Amino acid sequence: MASDQALIEARGLQTYYGASHILRGIDFTVGRGETIGLMGRNGMGKSTLLKSLMGLVKPRAGSVKIMGREMMGRPPYEIAQLGIAYVPEGRGIFGNLSVVENLVMAARPGTRGQRDWTYDRVLETFPRLKERLGHGGQQLSGGEQQMLTIGRALMTNPDVLILDEATEGLAPLIAREIWRICGVIRETGISSVIVDKNWKHVTQVTDRNVILVKGEVVFAGTSDELRAQPQLLDQYLGV
Ligand SMILES: Nc1ncnc2c1ncn2[C@@H]1O[C@H](COP(=O)(O)OP(=O)(O)OP(=O)(O)O)[C@@H](O)[C@H]1O
Ligand SMILES: [Mg+2]
Repeated sequence: MASDQALIEARGLQTYYGASHILRGIDFTVGRGETIGLMGRNGMGKSTLLKSLMGLVKPRAGSVKIMGREMMGRPPYEIAQLGIAYVPEGRGIFGNLSVVENLVMAARPGTRGQRDWTYDRVLETFPRLKERLGHGGQQLSGGEQQMLTIGRALMTNPDVLILDEATEGLAPLIAREIWRICGVIRETGISSVIVDKNWKHVTQVTDRNVILVKGEVVFAGTSDELRAQPQLLDQYLGV
């Protein structure tokens, strides 16, 4: 049944950069409406996994199905068109465009014709952006830029929002605002994959969590299961 079908189903991903073997047989699934935390120390392969899903890096072996269609090796724009929005580490807004322009140029209905996320709704969700509509992207603070990238991703009415380093380098108050927004997005039924170093915040907004060590999945389970095993946090995340 279509409603039971995973939005993203990756199997046996093997990804290399030149001779460096980075992903070593990763399975990773995103179901409809699911919020997933992806964690692991620096350099463990989180961003490489996201890039492998998005078609930004081509795995050497494995399978990436998006809504049942084999998409491994397809270009990123085709994957985006299937309703997968990607917010990379370090953002990537158009610095010479204003907040309004960044948002409006991203607007489009989703894969099922959904138009839940309108310009007005995005501004309602991000009151700080509303106060800075005419500002150029490069005049924004890091936190505001992150809000703008997330807002722009929402304007595409995605089925899955992929957020790499959700709060990296942001002041605690702004980070809290990003976590609030992750909660709002979850309530609207959009699936998310969230990468962040702060497992406490991550597990508050996720249903399932995956931990990577050297390109392998060493834990996959619910937030409750993870919280119940603090030794894993110590062992795999060093907290
Ligand atoms: N373009 C690249 N070329 C070669 N090696 C790379 C490239 N990008 C990443 N790597 C290496 O691949 C490994 C995994 O990197 P990746 O960026 O996926 O890790 P990460 O878990 O996202 O880390 P971080 O928490 O620091 O963002 C690291 O050893 C990194 O040095
Ligand atoms: Mg990374």
